[in-house]
Amino acid sequence: MRGKFITLEGIDGAGKSTHHAWLAGFLKSRGKEVVATREPGGTPLGEKLRALLLSEPMHLETEALLMFAARREHLDKLILPALAAGKWIVSDRFTDATHAYQGGGRGLAPEKIAMLENWVQAGFQPDLTLVFDLPTNIACERLVGTGNAPDRFEKETREFFERVRHVYLQRAATEPDRIKIIDATQTIEKIKNVLEDIVSNIC
Ligand code: TYD
Repeated sequence: MRGKFITLEGIDGAGKSTHHAWLAGFLKSRGKEVVATREPGGTPLGEKLRALLLSEPMHLETEALLMFAARREHLDKLILPALAAGKWIVSDRFTDATHAYQGGGRGLAPEKIAMLENWVQAGFQPDLTLVFDLPTNIACERLVGTGNAPDRFEKETREFFERVRHVYLQRAATEPDRIKIIDATQTIEKIKNVLEDIVSNIC
């Protein structure tokens, strides 16, 4: 039986990495064979592209093209074979991030993203997408609180993250069956309970 493809999304600082690890463990405890991965990245070539994307200044369209180049590789080398083998994939970000960051944040035309999405994915979509949502001021405070050096995206302005957040919320409103919003201002324990409820529906 084909596995399921779950993606985690949200603005930087929403805390999705914590829940990514927890969710992979939870699914394993339910007897699933789980592959935890991330975008950009997830393959040796994808991780090299990630390093460039997070550090190197580049044209907005170069950025979008590299995101999809890494994604093409990710689908071919990891996601599609693992799903076909019955494994479950939990990915820290996927194409909703391109719509939100390159589309919303940077202002790339939605038609251009749709064109690349059709080319690379040919209709393929996650079975479930969890959007960790919180006000941008709280996310920014959390990012500063980590003490880690910010990458190229984390250095963006609050207005940028407002636009990114807006696109995530808009997409969730248009695809409510696939995209679920999680209130990321709640405690980690509360969020785990919410995730357990949502994910149990497809286990
Ligand atoms: P992120 O997922 O936040 O990882 P970490 O928690 O290790 O910082 O970092 C990836 C960054 O890449 C994030 O700022 C969003 C950005 N991104 C895009 O702009 N477009 C995309 O299509 C993807 C997948 C990510």
